[in-house]
Amino acid sequence: MKIVYLKEVDSTNDFAKKLIDNGDEAIIIAERQSKGKGRLGRIWISEEGGLYFTIILKGDPEFINFLSAVSVVETLRQYNINSGIKFPNDICVDEKKLCGVLIEIYKGYVILGIGINVNNDIKIERAVSLKSLGYDINKFELLFKFLKIFFENMKKDKEKILETYKKYSITINRPVKILLPNKIIYGKVVDIDYSGIMLDIGNKIINIPAGDVIHLR
Ligand code: BTN
Repeated sequence: MKIVYLKEVDSTNDFAKKLIDNGDEAIIIAERQSKGKGRLGRIWISEEGGLYFTIILKGDPEFINFLSAVSVVETLRQYNINSGIKFPNDICVDEKKLCGVLIEIYKGYVILGIGINVNNDIKIERAVSLKSLGYDINKFELLFKFLKIFFENMKKDKEKILETYKKYSITINRPVKILLPNKIIYGKVVDIDYSGIMLDIGNKIINIPAGDVIHLR
């Protein structure tokens, strides 16, 4: 697969769509994004030093979603960094966000966008970068380690990846508040699978496919 390296772009995910329109598949990496996109319509601040990349893929988006989070955690473990997955796919160190994943579906392709705070300065309290944690890591080395792990993991079956995802989950067994477009739900997360969170709301267990999860304790 070819690699496209850009000094600056609006969003590597949007650039991926242009490549798909031209019939190309690639991995796109940018030093900076002027319009980096996050989940739920948020912006992803993408200043110099961070790792911002997108992979154009074919496959099951739910599987790719969990697989990407598991692969980031496993990549960090190669540097002896312990991280965990906050549902659906935020990678956190000590409850603070280090990495985010944005998956989009376009013309039958899965656009997997990943942003990792590597050497960028962090200005918000609830986020960290590898630099702010005291690590000095080459982001391209990190990327290539990730790609190796990710494509190896892609050969594994869905059950195996789910099992590993749950092992690294920091959301399972936690009391949470989930913000949905029109309501807020409180409960305890009793399980997670490809259909989403299984939430115990006191009198029953309900399934929440997606949303903004806030850990309460
Ligand atoms: C989130 O946690 O809200 C998801 C953040 C995803 C950011 C990455 S950076 C590379 C790719 N291009 C984008 O515009 N967003 C994703």
